[in-house]
This record gives sequence, structure tokens and C-alpha cells, in this order.
Amino acid sequence: MEFKELLYKRRSIRSFTGEKMTRTQLEYILEAAARAPSACNYQSWHFTVIVGDENIAKLCPEVYRGEWIRNASAVIAVSVDDEKITERFGDRGRDLFALQDTACAMNNILMAAADIGFGGCFIGAFDEDKCREVLGLKYRPVAIAALGRPTAEPALRERKPMNEVVDWIGEPIEDENDIAAPEEKPFELSDTRLPESRFTNLDLGGAVFNDVNLGGAKFNNINLSGAEYTDINMSGASFGGMTMAGSTFGCVDMRECEFRNPDFTGSVFRNCKLKNIAIEDCEIDSITVDGKRIEL
Ligand SMILES: Cc1cc2nc3c(=O)[nH]c(=O)nc-3n(C[C@H](O)[C@H](O)[C@H](O)COP(=O)(O)O)c2cc1C
Repeated sequence: MEFKELLYKRRSIRSFTGEKMTRTQLEYILEAAARAPSACNYQSWHFTVIVGDENIAKLCPEVYRGEWIRNASAVIAVSVDDEKITERFGDRGRDLFALQDTACAMNNILMAAADIGFGGCFIGAFDEDKCREVLGLKYRPVAIAALGRPTAEPALRERKPMNEVVDWIGEPIEDENDIAAPEEKPFELSDTRLPESRFTNLDLGGAVFNDVNLGGAKFNNINLSGAEYTDINMSGASFGGMTMAGSTFGCVDMRECEFRNPDFTGSVFRNCKLKNIAIEDCEIDSITVDGKRIEL
């Protein structure tokens, strides 16, 4: 993947499918972590890879609002030998270089994970002593990355405008080239089985779903306006706080679905299983069935 594409692909992921990561994938990520720059190339970091549901679960209570970590495929704790780094660089080593080295390694971890189709999140809000204790770490944990296969690609989070965060000292030379950010592609999911999964707080406007099993899944507060669905099993799924206006549904099994306050304005259903649908307390002015408009 090109750097610019990768840069805009990475985002913090806190919802995982549960798919396990292999040793090769984890070693690729660790290799990237260790390629990061570090003060005097001292490489103050130490990486502890935590896999296995039971091992990962031990961390949840020690991380602030850490319940979502339970579904991660792997967690990498980055720790620092405080004694050694202080010996080498004094207090500045422990108080600054160690954190800077770790942050550089963490960014490479998250970028490498995104590069191979996984995702993760930087965790800084955790109880250092308790994490150290439950994991039996030799050194002080400084940062934690929780990694896994994303259930969906959340929208890129906003950044402050450049003029708010950048000052120039001196004038650079001008050129004609424009290095623009790549256009954000709509989220795509195909040939995937995610029955009984939970999805919350996502912006998936314009998303494309093809051959996906979402039977019994629970969706809450999701923007799916303008989405396209083909060959989807949604039977038994429940939807709350959804925007689904302007969507196209083709060959979608929606039997026994429950919708709370959905917005389906302008949506089209073709070859779908929509038998025994109950519509209550909804604003509907007309429905067109096989070309015949029914005013309500
Ligand atoms: C130093 C640092 C500490 C962070 N700590 C946490 C954390 O404890 N829990 C969490 O869910 N996210 C944490 N994050 C992730 C940020 O919330 C996230 O990077 C930010 O909202 C921007 O979103 P993005 O990564 O999708 O661009 C942390 C990020 C950094 C760099």
C-alpha cells in the first residue's frame, strides 16, 4: 500500500471481528515497531505480545473503559526499563526519551497493522502497576496497542485546521505540485459472515455490502444512508437510531428484523424477503410496489 493511502487508512479501531492473528502477521508488526527511530538508537522499548482470550481478558479491568479490548486478537504492551534508560541518559531519558521512543514504535505498530488489513488502537489510559502485575512484566508499561480485524472502517476523525497547529518560521519555496489527500472510499464488505455481531456509533454512509451474513446482528446509531446491499442475510437483526435513507436493497433477507425510528426515505427494495413487516408509528406518505404508487 502506498504511504499516503496507508496514512489515511489508519484510524483507531476498537471493534474487532474476533479473527485471530497469526505469528507471521504479528512478527511483521513487531518488525515495523523495531524499525522506528529512537533516541541515540538506544531502542529503549520492550514488546510483550499477549494472545489468547484469557490472557487478553486479564487486561480489561486495568484499562480505562477497556471492555472493548476483550475482542482483540492480540495486544502489544510496550514497556521500558526505567533503571537502564536513566543510567544511560539521566532523568531526561526516563521522563522523555523513553516515551518518545515508545510513541514512535506505537505508531509503526498501528500503521503496520493497517497495512495488512488489521487495525488497532493506542491505549495510554491504564493502571501501570496493575497491568504490570497481571501480565507479569519485567519493565514499566508505557503504552498498549490492542489489535484485530476491524468489524467496520469508522470514518476518519477530524483534525484541527493546519493553520491552528502550524507556525512557519521563514518562507519555503513554492511549487506547483499539490499533494492532496486521497478521496475517502466508501466502506466495502463482501463475502463475510458476521452473525450475532454488534455495531455501534459508525458513519458508514455510501457503504457497499455484498454477500454478507448479518443474521441476528445488533446495530445502534449508525449512518448507512446511500448504502448498497446485495445478497445479504439480515434476518433477526435489530436496528436502533439508524439512518438508511436512499439505500438500495437487492436480495436481502429481512425477516423478523426490528427497526426503531429508521429513516428509509427514498430507499429501494428489489427481490427482498419483506413478508409480515410491521410498521408502527412511522411517517410514511407513499410506497411504490412494482411500479404502483400507493399514497398513505
Ligand atoms: C498517547 C495516546 C493515548 C491514547 N489513549 C487512548 C486510550 O487510553 N483509550 C482509547 O480508546 N484511545 C486512546 N487513544 C486513541 C485516540 O483516542 C485516537 O488516536 C484519537 O481519537 C484520534 O483518532 P484516530 O486514531 O482514529 O485518528 C490514544 C492515542 C494516543 C496517541
